[in-house]
Amino acid sequence: MTSLLIRGRVLSFRREPESVDDLESCLHEEDGAVLVRDGKIVAVGDFAVVRTQAGGVVEIADHRPHLILPGFIDAHVHFPQMQVIASYGAELLDWLNDYTFPEESKFADAQHGRRVARLFLDEAVRQGTTTVAAYCSVHKASAEAFFEESHARNMLNIAGKVMMDRNAPEALRDTPQTGYDDTKALIAEWHGRGRQLYAITPRFAITSTPEQMEMAGALTAEHPDCHVQTHLSENHAEIRWAEELYPQAKDYTDIYARYGLLGGNSLFGHCIHLSEREADAMSESGSVAVFCPTSNLFLGSGLFDYHRYRRRGKPLRVASATDVGGGTNYSMLRTMDEAYKVVALQGEKLNPLQSFWQLTRGNAEALSIADRAGTLEPGTDADIVVLDASATPAMKVRMETVTTLAQELFLLQTLGDDRAVREVYVAGKAAKGALLHP
Ligand code: GUN
Ligand code: ZN
Repeated sequence: MTSLLIRGRVLSFRREPESVDDLESCLHEEDGAVLVRDGKIVAVGDFAVVRTQAGGVVEIADHRPHLILPGFIDAHVHFPQMQVIASYGAELLDWLNDYTFPEESKFADAQHGRRVARLFLDEAVRQGTTTVAAYCSVHKASAEAFFEESHARNMLNIAGKVMMDRNAPEALRDTPQTGYDDTKALIAEWHGRGRQLYAITPRFAITSTPEQMEMAGALTAEHPDCHVQTHLSENHAEIRWAEELYPQAKDYTDIYARYGLLGGNSLFGHCIHLSEREADAMSESGSVAVFCPTSNLFLGSGLFDYHRYRRRGKPLRVASATDVGGGTNYSMLRTMDEAYKVVALQGEKLNPLQSFWQLTRGNAEALSIADRAGTLEPGTDADIVVLDASATPAMKVRMETVTTLAQELFLLQTLGDDRAVREVYVAGKAAKGALLHP
């Protein structure tokens, strides 16, 4: 049996770093290697040691002097918004009505969905992202298209058909019953098939009636191993409207709580303006707050207080994400650069070890998939990214003065994008070089 030995400067986090000097938090080998067999990592560490473990037939991919990390994870993205990204001049609710809903209507056409799913996953891989938690459109066919493309590439992705039955154009509305039935059928067909995972996806409280929220709660109770994904506390007008629509709820978070939608598999996009009570409810239920910095800046939504959430007495589980097409870039490097600035605007710093932990192991833990992705630990799937911190002339000249790993990571995050991504392995197979239009 042929094994693949991926050689380079290996970096994988064991736990969340406590400071910019906390190299104990990671496995770091300057002449390292990852041994891959049947799509899984079987050994990692010093090259000479791993080479002897590899035994007989072994193919070597020599990526020295580049860094080898777990593939990036994007915890919140809308694949039908590839033609929404870069839409000018609106805050959330107008942006949804003027740009997003018209584009998502086109996904009634299954061919369109398939084409965009293909382009979307190509783009994710080009950017070093090997796992996404994706919103599809309301149309069942859009989720089928996404899963078919994802499965064909053997990617570990989480996705779901959006449920929305009010406050949206007729063509984009399902009903409590059809939303339930389509979701149920998609779970039966796709959840756990190959590497695919299903997320029950009520878009947000504004676009679901109480009847549909009941159905989403029923699905969540019936499928506790599925994820739940929705939006929470992104924009002040949105918060006001959601609270008006559910006057019996204590606050926006309580709307979801009342329908049984909080929990350890629940991913809440944005969570910018949570009260202490809401943050407690999120923490106590193990729910995840998803930080989408480029989107929050682009739509003028507000500043996610990363350190407040992480350091409070009852800390929140936090993930990071692009939120394309409210977000403005597919790259998780660009995303963490903007995350740094959002944190800086609040008088704090997000250190580069923490950033790279977040977009690998941190996001995997937040999505409860760290046993499969987000690290280079033996037994996990071989989703890997190879990064070149000298990829452009500007990066190269800056690298001349870099003396530590943390500085190199910060340079990658600040100046890097898809050009810094030299190769991507999806379940052990080189995927970036294999793209038709890399
Ligand atoms: N809230 C409800 N739907 C959306 C969406 O598509 N993008 C963003 N950023 N927020 C939302
Ligand atoms: Zn979103």
